[in-house]
Amino acid sequence: MARVCIKTHRSLTRILLFVGATILLSAAGDHQVRSEDELWRRINSMSLREKVGQMTQINLPLLLQRQEDGSVKHPVSFDATALSLALDSFKVGSVMNTADHALSLETWQYITSFLHEQSEERVGIPILYGIDAIHGANYTSGSTLLPHQLMIAASFNDSLAALAAGISAYETKASGIPWVFSPILDVVRNPYWVQFFETFGEDTYLAKQMGKAMVRGYQAVNSPSAQVLACAKHFVAVGDVRTGKDRTPIDIGERKLRDVFLPPFEGAVSEGVASIMIGTNEIDGIPTHANSYLLKGVLRDELGFEGVLISDWGDVQNLYRLHRSVASMEEAVKLAINSGIDMVMVPNDFEFSKTLYELVLNDELDQARIDASVYRILKAKQAIGLLDGSFLPGEGDFPRFGGEEHYKSSYEIALEGACLLKNEGEVLPLSADSKILICGNASDDLSIQNGAWSRTWQGRDTFIHKEPYATIYQAFSERAKNVSFADRRSSAAWLEGVNTNMVDEAEVILVCLGERPATEKPGDVPSIDLPASDQALIEFLHRRGKTIVLVMMQSRPRIVRTIEPLVDAILMGFVPGNSGGEAIADLLLGKASPSGKLPFSYPRYEGLYMPYAHKHIEAMDTNYGMSAYQPQWAFGSGIGYVEIAYDEISLASDTLQPDDTLAIDVRISNLGDQGQKESVLVFIADRVSKVTPEVKKLAAYKKVNTLPNRSRTVQFSIPISELKSTGLDPRSKTLEPGWFDIFIANRSASFYLAAGS
Ligand code: BGC
Repeated sequence: MARVCIKTHRSLTRILLFVGATILLSAAGDHQVRSEDELWRRINSMSLREKVGQMTQINLPLLLQRQEDGSVKHPVSFDATALSLALDSFKVGSVMNTADHALSLETWQYITSFLHEQSEERVGIPILYGIDAIHGANYTSGSTLLPHQLMIAASFNDSLAALAAGISAYETKASGIPWVFSPILDVVRNPYWVQFFETFGEDTYLAKQMGKAMVRGYQAVNSPSAQVLACAKHFVAVGDVRTGKDRTPIDIGERKLRDVFLPPFEGAVSEGVASIMIGTNEIDGIPTHANSYLLKGVLRDELGFEGVLISDWGDVQNLYRLHRSVASMEEAVKLAINSGIDMVMVPNDFEFSKTLYELVLNDELDQARIDASVYRILKAKQAIGLLDGSFLPGEGDFPRFGGEEHYKSSYEIALEGACLLKNEGEVLPLSADSKILICGNASDDLSIQNGAWSRTWQGRDTFIHKEPYATIYQAFSERAKNVSFADRRSSAAWLEGVNTNMVDEAEVILVCLGERPATEKPGDVPSIDLPASDQALIEFLHRRGKTIVLVMMQSRPRIVRTIEPLVDAILMGFVPGNSGGEAIADLLLGKASPSGKLPFSYPRYEGLYMPYAHKHIEAMDTNYGMSAYQPQWAFGSGIGYVEIAYDEISLASDTLQPDDTLAIDVRISNLGDQGQKESVLVFIADRVSKVTPEVKKLAAYKKVNTLPNRSRTVQFSIPISELKSTGLDPRSKTLEPGWFDIFIANRSASFYLAAGS
């Protein structure tokens, strides 16, 4: 079989590609597309095969040489026959993801520049390469692995979300890749769902603001060196899977869909997000890939989304293979395309391309429908500079790739995201002179620190441990004098061989517990109880009368009800990435004060999850009081080392009209001798409305600095129109006149809305 080798040396590739390059440069000139007319002329001159190819996205391994067991051969090299099938026969327009695991920067630059040039030559239009860059360019070795989204949300600092996206964009672009499948905008309402840590948590407003900031960061129009196309996913409501299991059905009504799950996508569309990925799930019996009401009626017509709508992995085939809403591939393709999908993540065969081609040829699908999708795909390619040669993979200098500056930024994000949930007797910060014993499976484990999407899909491979970053234990041993370490065995193994002298000699035991990395289907769990052995470890240490500091590196909340009273301090470290070890050590040792706040309600019991924005009737308890919202920690929980006091809230006016803006001032005071950041969260509750109101909803937030022993005023302007929610007619947002309450920390105020809208 003929093969085309990808060399791993840049200059060699340049020589290999030299002959092609001359032809390509002139080809690129031909392909310059400047105006709409030109774009349409271009589409009109394309063959049906070429159009169908643009709508097809395949997985990289489909083009690579494989071993007998089907796995990719390393170092990677292209299989000429496969390449010819994809580019010459099927005219494929997009390629995605990686070859089993992360590849070096040089290899990526070769892969992407080779594919770019080959597709220009053989298809006439460069391929659009897309990748799961979930917390940085995680499939490029040596890239900066940032904190996952949930930790970014906990910072309540939009500029950090934009910063994270900017770093990821820069390093993805350095790899020659112009398109990231991020951010996740699914508001999560089921703590069992495996992708919990990849979301911005349970709140709609927070997810919307953070999502907008990330889209801005990725698509940074003013900063071409760090500009990629973003992809908001998974449309829609995927964080509310009934069973908590990935890809299972969602049962929600129109109002919840519109008020809870749609706004973050609306925000992304308002920022010009280039693409949206559809969730695999079905909603109320209809797979979203076949839901033209949602895809066309809501997303395109109502929200005005003009970008590329891409399927998720294999989900057009899944309409008949898994969902069984149709009986054949022909029907599946017809339904999906007529429902509004532009590009199909096939990803491992050409069944889709063959079927779509036949359907259009036989007039079973409209040409104009295909042309509309091709137009949107070419617009995206044009926007990122693929059509005019301004984006050339492998070109450009990226000196900041994986470097100190990006590491420092990711450290700042982790520092601001970590949440201190308990600090009894002010055991924290720890003194660097204390005798500290460190134990627990997350104390010295970079894979738990980074979670899934870290060099591999599931992030469980051992080579991540070779990365030159500090675990919590390593960071502590560099900073404190008397650190002993009980190795990173599981709690069960540790308890079996425990050295009680070591325990008794320590003044403080730092227990770091984390969940084994997982995402998507492999991460489904039947229970979110903390493993019994982890509980036994805490109970054992408590029986020995020790001061215990618990660090949790969790990808989803684990029930800690019984052990919480046994420990003195708890820091939620989320899935903090490579800088997390140092950030957590610095917080625990008092180099900075924690300022993260929980972006979700941490459940106290298995199966009893209630978001803070619940309905009044849900708050009714067994004694017929109204205190059933009893999470382990409420949404917004998080303390620092100094106390921040809130003064009375003052309003510019307490009677407002629908077009007014609510102006709020709140004075906060730092009562300590250390500076500290503070997230000021503003909640608003509509006292009465025909569609039952939530007890309160986040309406604004600001992260501010506070100086030791100083006060400052924080101001908010909230347009009344933004408080509207879906009314009796599910297609319209309304606000009834009446009283509204404002809650900021332990303060409250009220205003009267004189007229409805
Ligand atoms: C996931 C997406 C991901 C895609 C491509 C899917 O299975 O749901 O989040 O972007 O695969 O890898």
